[in-house]
Amino acid sequence: MEAYKDRILTWLERLAQGDYLMGGNNYGILGAITLGIVIPFLLSTVFLVKKKGKQRGVQVEVGGEPGFAMRNRRFDKLVEVPWEGATTMAALFEQSCKKNARDRFLGTRKLIGKELITANDGRKFEKLHLGDYEWITYGEAFDRACNFASGLVKLGHSPESPAAIFSETRAEWLLAFQGCFRQNITIVTIYASLGEDALIHSLNQTQVSTLICDSKQLKKLAAISSSLETIKRIIYFEEEDGATIDSGLFGDTSNWTVSSFSEIQKLGKESPVNPRLPSKTDVAVIMYTSGSTGLPKGVMMTHGNIVATAAAVTTVVPGIGKSDVYLAYLPLAHVFELAAETVMLSVGCPIGYGSTLTLTDTSNKIKKGTLGDASVLKPTLMAAVPAILDRVRDGVQKKVGEKGGLAKKLFNLAFKRRLAAIEGSWLGGWGLERIIWDAIVFKKIRSILGGHVHFMLCGGAPLSADTQRFINVCLGAPIGQGYGLTETCAGAAFSESDDMTVGRVGPPLPCCYIKLVSWEEGGYTISDKPMPRGEIVVGGPSITLGYFKNDDKTKEVYKVDEKGLRWFYTGDIGQFHPDGCLEIIDRKKDIVKLQHGEYVSLGKVEAALISSNYVENIMVHADPFHSYCVALVVPPQKVIENWAQSAGIEYKDFPDLCLKEETVREVQQSLSKVS
Ligand SMILES: *[C@@H]1O[C@H](CO)[C@@H](O)[C@H](O)[C@H]1NC(C)=O
Ligand SMILES: *[C@@H]1O[C@H](CO)[C@@H](O)[C@H](O)[C@H]1NC(C)=O
Ligand SMILES: *[C@@H]1O[C@H](CO)[C@@H](O)[C@H](O)[C@H]1NC(C)=O
Repeated sequence: MEAYKDRILTWLERLAQGDYLMGGNNYGILGAITLGIVIPFLLSTVFLVKKKGKQRGVQVEVGGEPGFAMRNRRFDKLVEVPWEGATTMAALFEQSCKKNARDRFLGTRKLIGKELITANDGRKFEKLHLGDYEWITYGEAFDRACNFASGLVKLGHSPESPAAIFSETRAEWLLAFQGCFRQNITIVTIYASLGEDALIHSLNQTQVSTLICDSKQLKKLAAISSSLETIKRIIYFEEEDGATIDSGLFGDTSNWTVSSFSEIQKLGKESPVNPRLPSKTDVAVIMYTSGSTGLPKGVMMTHGNIVATAAAVTTVVPGIGKSDVYLAYLPLAHVFELAAETVMLSVGCPIGYGSTLTLTDTSNKIKKGTLGDASVLKPTLMAAVPAILDRVRDGVQKKVGEKGGLAKKLFNLAFKRRLAAIEGSWLGGWGLERIIWDAIVFKKIRSILGGHVHFMLCGGAPLSADTQRFINVCLGAPIGQGYGLTETCAGAAFSESDDMTVGRVGPPLPCCYIKLVSWEEGGYTISDKPMPRGEIVVGGPSITLGYFKNDDKTKEVYKVDEKGLRWFYTGDIGQFHPDGCLEIIDRKKDIVKLQHGEYVSLGKVEAALISSNYVENIMVHADPFHSYCVALVVPPQKVIENWAQSAGIEYKDFPDLCLKEETVREVQQSLSKVS
């Protein structure tokens, strides 16, 4: 059978050699279509299968506030560690590095050249010429992390004080991170997108004395150095092109010691210091995330929290193991990426680093004619946020639209057929027909991400059903959609790879229980029919300790039950399907998370906009599938008419005035001004 498949495949590839997406003339296409439809049809009449609903979660009795609780079907006890003994990040790292010492671990692309391109409008763009991945092994990574840890202590960093990492995702990030844990040093992370005030606040609140950053941040830090009162040392990751740091950058007024990452490793190598390993209840990370209002909040994660999530996620990625390759490009300051990379560490697979700007051959920063990260690495696993998958979908649709004609018809047909197969109507779709469509249509699309992705982890915000289906069909890879928050250390629920439904986030991960608690005021109760509904409350070893120096807020949303289990009240409203899968249906507060993951408080936006003279009444709407809010404004007639008069605008009646371009512009300008 395999040989037979191979022969058909080769034959079809020859047919499609004209290169489907590039146009070309495919004489054999009609033949392929005939083959693709007639044979599977015959097959399917023989083996008609109906997929039956599979139980994924089971109801469970738990402590704390009464509710309707669910656990993962496959595990009757909560999972806490990937294996016995790996109770902290430091232990996990050391044991995995010993076990996989000679295997590839962290890969970074070699920088061959940089150039500046000037666009027609005069703007300048940097283009990179990047080469192959260069790897360090697990064994080397362990040595480097140990050296860095020793160097840090030698430099004078006191292990009681936290260190912060403020950098883009890269191999050194993980090395510095693991290095600090060798000395039981807590790491503070801050989203780069939070802005200066948030950075100053987070570093000051945690009394960080050593800041580890990439050299791109140095200028930014120099500019605000007078506000960074607690900082004594800066350690920067060198650029690969060997650009040196301007020693005058921080002036004479600064008392900072500025050193490079490799200097510190060298220092540590020359004078090793004994490790001071943490325990599972020690705080590993204080992760600053955007608060819904005001200043960012620091979520305290213990070593036990992170290893529990990693252990649980490992169980839901099908066949994950050493032969996988993971492409890392999302921000490591985000719990989703941090958890994903910890999963890869625990299974011993290589992690190749990239960035959103260099991901594919056509990415912004990739020099024409050179390859994107995915093409070079050929990853088997990737993590993505919905906004990125939406972009992939739009890109493919645009390209197909441009081709038009036969190419477009063929794509649409293939898409429809594969969709029907995925939605479970017939067996043929999974066998021969699949091979055929893959060869003539989808192979090209898959090659955008290197052609080998077999599973995609998606999290951070809800994924639209449309995009999920599009990726299922075109990439041929199931998407594991995760639901979780920084406070639940990423994972709370995760959809299983064989679950082809859309719009749900799967059963609870094996590291936690998910409980629905009735919210009477909102009209959601656990006795609702057809499904129990309520606020989503998550409990288990992955639930974080709370907010740093913010007991009031911590007490409001974290509770410990009579058995000592921690629960986090998410404020999201969900319902449980009969198979134990969770669906998010609403939000308790008026806070909405937009597509890029920012929280918007609708009430706050309304309050700001209502101060415009042109707003009599206002309602702001936002949904997580877009990156902006929409405001419906009722303007006061009198004020508008007065303005029209003074501006000398002629109009028939009020509705006519409202439709005028000038009126709309005037109101919009006023709204922009007050916001
Ligand atoms: C790790 O550091 C914290 C904070 O400095 C301390 O409270 C804790 O006891 C340390 N853990 C161990 C195992 O020494
Ligand atoms: C840092 O925090 C202290 C209180 O702990 C406060 O007095 C000071 O103003 C803060 N500094 C900055 C720059 O925010
Ligand atoms: C540097 O340190 C000295 C003495 O400790 C102090 O007086 C001075 O204000 C510091 N300068 C800055 C910019 O922090």
